[in-house]
Amino acid sequence: MTEKDRIKTYINNLDEQMSGGIPEGHVILVSGNPGTYKSSLSYSVLYHNALKNGIKGLYISFQQSRESLTDQFRAMNMDPADVEEKITIVDASYLRETLDPDPGDWIEVFKRYVENIRATTDYELLVLDSLTTLEMISKVEDRRETLFHIFEWLRDFHGLTSFLLTERARVKETLREEEFLADGTIILSKERLDKVETRRYLAIDKMRSTAHETSYFTLLFDGERFQVTRVISD
Ligand SMILES: Nc1ncnc2c1ncn2[C@@H]1O[C@H](COP(=O)(O)OP(=O)(O)OP(=O)(O)O)[C@@H](O)[C@H]1O
Ligand SMILES: [Mg+2]
Repeated sequence: MTEKDRIKTYINNLDEQMSGGIPEGHVILVSGNPGTYKSSLSYSVLYHNALKNGIKGLYISFQQSRESLTDQFRAMNMDPADVEEKITIVDASYLRETLDPDPGDWIEVFKRYVENIRATTDYELLVLDSLTTLEMISKVEDRRETLFHIFEWLRDFHGLTSFLLTERARVKETLREEEFLADGTIILSKERLDKVETRRYLAIDKMRSTAHETSYFTLLFDGERFQVTRVISD
């Protein structure tokens, strides 16, 4: 696989840790507890790819409103207005209004929206914020089967690399279905040290077709960019 086939994360020092980036077409889980930067970090991948490579990204939120996300990203100096030609951010209320007053199954709404928009615009990156919320608001009967179909459906889009955000808190140590189904898993976490400082971490838990580092990195946001550094044990 060549560099060309990989999507750079533009998280400083991370792409070097995974053979240049995420293989195009992969379905990636971005997994972490509340407030571990799942949304901002995933959006930062879209933002920098749009700015630097003109790559189009679609951010679908079932969790936070478009307005609240936009405010947050702007405050982090990744203003959606800079990339409005390339990145589309939509939330659940938008989907409800545009698609159907009675949306029925939210998973179907999500799929229908992606299929429609992908038919006219060549989005190469997709963020689903979050798989956990989508599952929660949909009445999933057979979780295993439902997830299997979502992953297969995503892989069928030619040249689409997806980031599915998932909460980690609910099921602690047990491996979940989605971790087996995903092509890659990025784990985000944080830890409060001595009641003062919060340290944040990132680990590449799994990345198919890729030689990658597996240890935890310290994750920093410098006001504009994310970066990882090797954890120095103290
Ligand atoms: N301007 C900012 N600069 C740096 N960090 C910020 C800024 N604003 C908020 N944060 C931090 O980012 C965290 C939220 O990040 P984000 O929303 O990306 O996390 P998340 O994992 O998606 O959270 P959730 O589970 O609530 O969706 C906040 O809890 C705060 O610690
Ligand atoms: Mg979030």
